[in-house]
This record gives sequence, structure tokens and C-alpha cells, in this order.
Amino acid sequence: MRSVIAIGLSALSACSAGDQTEPLRVPQAATGAFNAQGLPLLRNPLPDDEPTRAAGAQVYASYSCAACHGDGLEGGLGPALVNTTWIYGNDDTTLFFLIRDGSKALRAHGYRRLGHEPQQGEMPPFASLLREQQIWEFIVYMRAQARTAD
Ligand code: HEC
Repeated sequence: MRSVIAIGLSALSACSAGDQTEPLRVPQAATGAFNAQGLPLLRNPLPDDEPTRAAGAQVYASYSCAACHGDGLEGGLGPALVNTTWIYGNDDTTLFFLIRDGSKALRAHGYRRLGHEPQQGEMPPFASLLREQQIWEFIVYMRAQARTAD
């Protein structure tokens, strides 16, 4: 438990580092088009297969995500990731930038909270901890879990 808290705190301190405005790094998965907020439109390059889902589960378990979103992605301090409510949307582009740059950065790009969950707070940026591939692995895992949820 102690280690979970320590990791959670380092994710929170990454949050304040992410508040500084940084030039947008364009992900390798960019399609060349842009979305309504002017962000590069992305398509998850990874297959929806068992090894990718397993790698995504590993990312989720290893980077303190579960401390806020629950062991089974059912929510806790942060919102559920397996229900049908999506705060900013559930397209690849939105989810990728939310996880990489955090919720404050998304709103700085013109996003608004459209979906509402009982939890209030900010999603910390994970840009300094996760490689692009790990974010895509997690998204494959999360979508598979959402399909099997009640
Ligand atoms: C310190 C708590 C915290 C941690 C750690 C955290 N999150 Fe979040 N996350 C949140 C909060 C709070 C929100 C909602 C943000 C908002 O309302 O703007 C969120 C939103 C999300 C969403 C969108 C959910 C929705 O319903 O639209 C996803 C996906 C997500 N987080 C994935 C992750 C992943 C992956 C990790 C680990 C790499 C992670 N989170 C770690 C607190 C956290």
C-alpha cells in the first residue's frame, strides 16, 4: 500500500510539471488530419489481441492508475473507465492526449467536460512516465475491459 501511495504522489508531482505550456509533440500515430480542437488526429496503431491487452493491463497496474481508477477500472478517486460516460469523449485522439498531457492541458486546447461522473478532479499528465506505445497498449486493454463489463 505504501508503494502505491508513493507512486501516486509522483504522478501528482508530474502534474505540476505538466502545467507549463510546452510545444505539442506530435505522436507517431498521427494521421495527418486534425480534430475540432486542432489536435493531430490519431489512430491506435496496435492490434486488439491478447499480447497487447496483457501489455496494457501491465501499464495500468504499474503506473498507479489503479490507485485512482480502481483495480478493475470501476472507479474510485477517479472516474470509472468501463462505463459509458466519457468526460471528454472516447475517441483515440482524446484519450491519448488526456493520458499523455492530463486534463488541464486538454481544456487548455479547447476541450470542455461533456460527460459527468461523481468524482471531481484532474487527470495527471503521464508524458514523463509512459512511452507512446504504452498509452496505446492501455487503450486497447481498457476498450476490451469495457466490452466485457456489465
Ligand atoms: C491522481 C489520480 C489519478 C491517477 C493516478 C490517474 N488518473 Fe485517470 N483520471 C483521474 C481523474 C480525476 C479523471 C477525470 C478528469 C476530469 O474530469 O477532467 C481521470 C480521467 C481518466 C480517463 C477518462 C475517463 C472518462 O470517464 O472520460 C482515462 C481514460 C484515464 N483517466 C486513464 C488513466 C490512466 C491510464 C492512468 C495511469 C497511467 C490514470 N488515469 C491515472 C485521476 C487519475
